Amino acid sequence: MKAINHEPAVRQRYAAAAQAPVAALCCAVDYERQHLKNIPEEVIQKDYGCGDPSRYLKSGETVLDLGSGTGKICFIAAQVVGATGKIIGVDMTDEMLEVARRNAPIVAERLGYANVEFRKGRIQDLALDLERLDEELRKRPITDAGSFLAADELAEDLRVRHPLIASDSVDVVVSNCVLNLVEPKSKRQLFEEIFRVLRKGGRAVISDIVSDAPVPDHLQSDPKLWSGCISGAFTEEGLVRAFAEAGFYGMQILTRDEQPWRTVEGVEFRSITVAAYKGKQGPCFDRKQAVIYLGPFKEVLDDDNHRMERGRRYAVCDKTYQLYKKEPYNQFFAFVDPPPSERVEPARPFDVSAPRLRHPQATKGQEYKATTEGSQCCDAGDCC
Ligand SMILES: C[S@@+](CC[C@H](N)C(=O)[O-])C[C@H]1O[C@@H](n2cnc3c(N)ncnc32)[C@H](O)[C@@H]1O
Repeated sequence: MKAINHEPAVRQRYAAAAQAPVAALCCAVDYERQHLKNIPEEVIQKDYGCGDPSRYLKSGETVLDLGSGTGKICFIAAQVVGATGKIIGVDMTDEMLEVARRNAPIVAERLGYANVEFRKGRIQDLALDLERLDEELRKRPITDAGSFLAADELAEDLRVRHPLIASDSVDVVVSNCVLNLVEPKSKRQLFEEIFRVLRKGGRAVISDIVSDAPVPDHLQSDPKLWSGCISGAFTEEGLVRAFAEAGFYGMQILTRDEQPWRTVEGVEFRSITVAAYKGKQGPCFDRKQAVIYLGPFKEVLDDDNHRMERGRRYAVCDKTYQLYKKEPYNQFFAFVDPPPSERVEPARPFDVSAPRLRHPQATKGQEYKATTEGSQCCDAGDCC
């Protein structure tokens, strides 16, 4: 494959697209009209997105938008999370940041609150604040090998002492049509960075262009197709796998366009939105809890390799039990908690060697022999 320098090609193309709208870089997306009303026309015109991750945000959340461009998703998200939430947009292209920052006070005035800021960085290296680095390099310019190595050390020091985005600091990472643009050698690090900045229990909601088959090498070495969101696309399954490899769980394809956005040499490229969750890491303790998978499938397998058949009562550790009680799993399970008298303190380590069923007596207690009347579930006091 002919080597191309992906990042300068991307920066150049989006620097130009910040000056004048480029129709070929944009897919039709149905954003909420009420949110668009508060966003200046210039931002809406320079829209290079392919989906709408802002629909999945909640009031009060802290959100990081990767590759924020002229700021459209940030300005929509600002309205979804409200005045108690906070939005940070990160982009590496000065011209994009200029448009976004110039329009931020206009949006803030229309909303009556200011909760959006834009920072300069590369999304595969979210610890390095490029504006701070610029500032330091103006004082100590690179002139020879020695100053080059010193600059490298300075960057490392900035990452540790003044991270652009701190670890475990964000509720939701969103992105709209950007991950595909990251150079191949940095894609793994990109997912590790998304994982790092999310707090435990946080999630990523990513809209991006994906392909239905691997992109052939000769298309990958075309800089125009790369910067046009084509050649760097993950395959549908590759995007989900990249999240799993970085330690996420519960990946779910929330939207998938039926029609491709573009087809190149028979390979279809379409927009999808994927959610992924952080928080399955940690110790497993046995608190005698059980879960029942409700269906509709005959069996399921989760990202920690728990396999469960529909309708059966499985023993799970407290960590898994708490994960299943939240989205995206909670609607698919019934939960069986032992009474306080049956809780073992301190909880014992959970045996993860093989799946285990939990006998009902284990959650109710060995001494439990109660006989009761029907509960008052109907007006007349009887259910059947
Ligand atoms: C296709 S545009 C999408 C912009 C915006 N998300 C939207 O919905 O309009 C891609 C944006 O990502 C930025 N970008 C691309 N690669 C990047 C990287 N590695 N780090 C930071 N920004 C990047 C570009 O500068 C550009 O603003």
